[in-house]
Amino acid sequence: MTDATLGLASLPQQNVLVKVEDGIAWVTLNRPSKRNAINPGIVFEMVQVMDVLEMEDSARCVVITGAGDAFSAGQDLKEYFREPDAGHPIARERLHRANAAWQWRRMMFYSKPTIAMVNGWCFGGAFQVLLACDLAVADEEATFGLSEINWGIIPAGIVTKSVAMALSQRKALYYILTGETFNGRTAEDIGLVNFAVPKDQLVARTTAIAKKLIEKNPQVLRAAKTAYHYTRDMSWDAAAEYLASKNDQTAFRDPEKGASKGMNQFLDEKSYRPGLGAYRRD
Ligand code: ACO
Repeated sequence: MTDATLGLASLPQQNVLVKVEDGIAWVTLNRPSKRNAINPGIVFEMVQVMDVLEMEDSARCVVITGAGDAFSAGQDLKEYFREPDAGHPIARERLHRANAAWQWRRMMFYSKPTIAMVNGWCFGGAFQVLLACDLAVADEEATFGLSEINWGIIPAGIVTKSVAMALSQRKALYYILTGETFNGRTAEDIGLVNFAVPKDQLVARTTAIAKKLIEKNPQVLRAAKTAYHYTRDMSWDAAAEYLASKNDQTAFRDPEKGASKGMNQFLDEKSYRPGLGAYRRD
């Protein structure tokens, strides 16, 4: 793991560009000439980026997008598959482990909210980046595809599992088995992204969602997301017990004591409506 305390200045800013503005960390996969295909450069740099942003207080929401006209064309067939497959088996294992290290559980339980901003091509392994983010907004003309079947492999890594969790069986199997492409509007219809918008509204819509997340209590956001992921695999009774404890733990650990602040502002001060927005966090 990177020494996250080194901060933003320690990031290479080569295969991945990072800038933080008004609380939003814009993380851009930066190999536009290769349609941002995920090569070892992106893999190892993203591990660093996720480590650093987690400790960077100015970054309160993370947006992942791609440079140029692609979100990402998936794993790099040459640099992620062919060359490592022919190379040292442990080096290959390390590469695959690093790829999983930032995209899988790490993002699922990442301590800050994440949004995928799909600005163009999104294929294969890029589905995991997309699905690992909490929320997603797409250009309505972006092109999506589980293209693995087209060149003789199955959606591996953890893509098939993620797709199975996000889509209905009919939709998941249709796209896994046919490799057919679809656009952002279809991605919204099938629930793969939250919203599909015209290209010229993509940044504005993403920014608006990020701002909505930023105004919430970060400790509670973190707990809500963790609870969502864990309870999906639990029985009803275990989930109820876990949620009761998690709720108590969240209130206990919350440095801003949000629950009692919110209650006071609604019941005593009558200064806000919890149904309509977040409590005053000053
Ligand atoms: N791996 C390696 N190189 C890639 C990849 C990739 N996944 N995608 C694009 N590139 C490279 C191309 O080889 C080309 O390199 P070159 O300029 O050195 O020849 C460059 O990026 C540009 O690609 P083009 O195909 O020329 O770009 P175009 O805009 O015409 O098409 C598209 C874009 C549709 C994304 C096409 O590149 C493509 O089909 N890529 C593969 C997509 C795919 O199947 N991804 C899944 C990979 S499997 C997995 O992720 C598990």
